[in-house]
Amino acid sequence: MLGLALLGKIGMRVLSGIQPTGELHIGNYFGAIKTWVELQDKNECIFFIADFHAMTETFSPYALKKNIIKTAINYLALGVDPKRCIIFQQSRVPGHTELAWILNCLTPLGELERMTQFKEKAEIFRKNINAGLLTYPVLQTADILLYQADSVPVGKDQEQHIELARTIARKFNNLFGETFKTPEALILESRGKIMSLNNPLKKMSKSLGPESYLGIFEPPKNIKDKIKRAVTDPGKEIKRSEEKPGISNLINIYSLFSDKTVEEIEEEFKGRGYEYFKDSLIGLVLKKLEPFQRKRKELEHRPRYIEKILEEGAKRAKIIARETMEEVKERVGIDI
Ligand code: ADP
Ligand code: TRP
Repeated sequence: MLGLALLGKIGMRVLSGIQPTGELHIGNYFGAIKTWVELQDKNECIFFIADFHAMTETFSPYALKKNIIKTAINYLALGVDPKRCIIFQQSRVPGHTELAWILNCLTPLGELERMTQFKEKAEIFRKNINAGLLTYPVLQTADILLYQADSVPVGKDQEQHIELARTIARKFNNLFGETFKTPEALILESRGKIMSLNNPLKKMSKSLGPESYLGIFEPPKNIKDKIKRAVTDPGKEIKRSEEKPGISNLINIYSLFSDKTVEEIEEEFKGRGYEYFKDSLIGLVLKKLEPFQRKRKELEHRPRYIEKILEEGAKRAKIIARETMEEVKERVGIDI
């Protein structure tokens, strides 16, 4: 898988974002945020709240506002450090939509129509297949190119979007002269695709409903019940195999939370049944999530601190974005 080599590198410009559309789950944590936190020491990191992207699904202004603040709090609670990273809200930096427009004009419609996420969302949100949903990956491309990012840590489902960003960057460079870096996706094999608890053949996702995911900030009782109800497979052995996607996913989750290898876990639970294993997993997950939950509670009482971080982040992001936009405008001939 893409990524291990990038994880060891230093001095990269790293950029990623998540839409403020609700609670984060352990797929978001392992697929994206944990890697962000690991990279922030030795790289120049930029993490944002993709609020414009969140408008491509039906939303209420009240919920959107609350979710933007909640997402900022979640980033901090999970260890993203405002002293080491730029943390900001996408819509506060005008360059994102300006660049997206220019890049829209370089992107063939067919490329967008074949995007897996567009096709899946168009299926789920049949009553609201808006133009924003189609051009979503172009805005995402603008997010990345605007900051000349080297590396984009995301889950496996985003690979196609990053590939498109690379294609658009190359196309712009060919047409108008070398302007953008070609970014690379950073996707880690064991973390990039956590599967649903109730359907281990599908990726864990908010859009599959609450039974699919384990929310990082869910009450312990919910976490316990969800793990207990998680789909397992025929047989009773704690062993990873292709024929046993349910238990394989739970073993992977155990491995990610414990930092033990799959082999160590299989050995540890040899001769034990699913129930015993699930009880251990519940204990482990609750213990690991507790500090995040505690930190979030603390931060919820500090709205001014959060606002200050977003303000400072936007200021710093604007400086980088402005520089790129000046060059882009000159390249395409609108810098009169
Ligand atoms: P969801 O599908 O639950 O709406 P998002 O699309 O908001 O999740 O994803 C935010 C980030 O988390 C992205 O980088 C995405 O690739 C990653 N991610 C989402 N689901 C998973 C998963 N099941 N396993 C690994 N990474 C994931
Ligand atoms: N599309 C990403 C997701 O669904 C969110 C996102 C928007 C993003 N812009 C980005 C991720 C730029 C990485 C880089 O999770």
